[in-house]
Amino acid sequence: PTLPALADKHIVITAGPTREALDPVRYLTNHSSGKMGYAIAAAAAKAGAKVTLISGPTVLPVPQGISVHKVESAAQMHQCVMAEMPTCDIFIATAAVADYRCAQVAEQKIKKNSDELTLTFVKNPDILKDVATLAEAPFTLGFAAETQDIEHYARQKMANKKLDMIAANDVSNADIGFNSDQNALLVLWQDGQEALPIASKDKLAEQLVTLLAKRFEEKQK
Ligand code: PMT
Repeated sequence: PTLPALADKHIVITAGPTREALDPVRYLTNHSSGKMGYAIAAAAAKAGAKVTLISGPTVLPVPQGISVHKVESAAQMHQCVMAEMPTCDIFIATAAVADYRCAQVAEQKIKKNSDELTLTFVKNPDILKDVATLAEAPFTLGFAAETQDIEHYARQKMANKKLDMIAANDVSNADIGFNSDQNALLVLWQDGQEALPIASKDKLAEQLVTLLAKRFEEKQK
């Protein structure tokens, strides 16, 4: 549905996994398919927003009427997101960003010369935190992928990263979360919450965008 609160607002959404190179032929990644983030992008565009989708590697078709930037690593995603911030009203972080990258990407293919291989990783920038702590931060909606004590850890993430809202999902359940067509979300904000029970990612995305529009409108008052 069209949502007046989002009309012509610029919404920037991250989606999918990131890919961290180990050498010219290998990389580290995770099971994110991008389905949740692409569904949110489609729902936000339908609601009347101007949507920019910043996507890690996925095989998904790009929804109509959306501007898409394809990236690979967390560092590239970070740079691409930051470049959109001057015009961004709402930021939604759906991507499963790799927390670490190789300290030194090998210039040549790593040879199997020894029985053990040790690689050193360094922390990636936290894209969502960097956005939420900007002097002129947009409205922020983060995700929390948890395997236990979902509400507790999600509230902690929302406070640590200074977010307006967070959508938590239980990624220990293989029927929902990473790569499945369905999900279930516990959406939290400062003084409230709403549980969105198991449904298709398309349907959940519409429900989430409706909740977001309400909170965003409240904050403008
Ligand atoms: O892509 P699908 O297969 O449809 O699966 C959807 C999903 C399970 C990936 C999605 O619903 C989800 O939970 N996304 C967030 C995954 C995640 O990395 O969560 P996290 O709890 O580690 O991170 C917390 C938040 O910080 C997230 O909004 C994440 O995008 C953001 N983050 C994390 C690390 C980092 N370096 N930069 C970030 O912006």
